Amino acid sequence: MNIRRSFNVKDLKSYSIVFDKSLLKTVQNLKSPDKRIKNAMIYFVKTGGKRIRPFLIHQTGAFLGIDSKTLNDFALAVECVHLHSLIHDDLPSMDNDDYRRGRLTVHKKFDEATAVLAGDMFQVLSIKTLAESKHLSPNQKVETIKMLSRANGLEGLIAGQSLDIYMKKQSSVKDIETMYLLKTGALFSVCFNLLLTVKKLSTQKRKNLKVIGDTIGKIFQVTDDMLDRWGDEKKVGKKINKDSKKANIAYKYNYKYCLKYLHQIQNKNYRALRKFFENNQQALVYISSLVDFISNRVK
Ligand code: IPE
Ligand code: IPE
Ligand code: MG
Ligand code: MG
Ligand code: MG
Repeated sequence: MNIRRSFNVKDLKSYSIVFDKSLLKTVQNLKSPDKRIKNAMIYFVKTGGKRIRPFLIHQTGAFLGIDSKTLNDFALAVECVHLHSLIHDDLPSMDNDDYRRGRLTVHKKFDEATAVLAGDMFQVLSIKTLAESKHLSPNQKVETIKMLSRANGLEGLIAGQSLDIYMKKQSSVKDIETMYLLKTGALFSVCFNLLLTVKKLSTQKRKNLKVIGDTIGKIFQVTDDMLDRWGDEKKVGKKINKDSKKANIAYKYNYKYCLKYLHQIQNKNYRALRKFFENNQQALVYISSLVDFISNRVK
């Protein structure tokens, strides 16, 4: 009998140990007459993080038969964009947060100027990683850099962060969803889209992949918002109940309805995964249980 294995949180833990070494090395290898920004970057890398985006890239890419070195370059590039977004998101002019992952935020540990520059440098490092990859062809480098720039820019994360800050609390669910797709969904989608630069897939599969990326992004952000309202501050590692005055699904609906809302997105995600992995039951079982982890997480 072929026993299909589900995601286990230990898989993520052991992956992140290896990934963190490679991320730390990438930062440590940066040459500079200045030490401050590099130290701030190293500090932030060492605060950990779930590394869920790198893990999604690694697992999905492995199921598609893509080699692990190429996947690691994608994972590093995406995580660097994510790290930039977190350092800047915590700044006093944005969410003004003192703690992340149970540790002081970069501007609290160092200062604001250092945090701005360290965040900037993570963006630079993401592009540098792709440009200098030993595993991508010149065309693939151009394509991946274009994709990541779009996901991080005014068609993605940066636009979403601006909408998030300036959006009215009374905004409609549709507007909130648009903001979620930009600030969080774009970076999840690009985890999958990057794979398309090294793996040819049919138009139908590409469509399925788009739905998979978008729905995981929404599931991720709705869960983050629910943790802000109903989570345990010690476990979450960042201040909670800070979004009550913001446009936010968890402050629009009660707990029961949030679960129902989340469930609808999970169903849509599962249908797309089923179509995408129609000939690979192991991949379907594994990635769908990983999506379950994303919505059941406590941090
Ligand atoms: C937090 O992302 C920011 C959001 C998009 C909600 P993560 O929860 O992935 O942060 P870390 O890297 O695991 O700390
Ligand atoms: C942040 O959303 C999304 C990003 C692009 C960083 P939040 O502001 O809710 O993330 P946390 O709760 O600070 O991690
Ligand atoms: Mg924010
Ligand atoms: Mg925040
Ligand atoms: Mg949040």
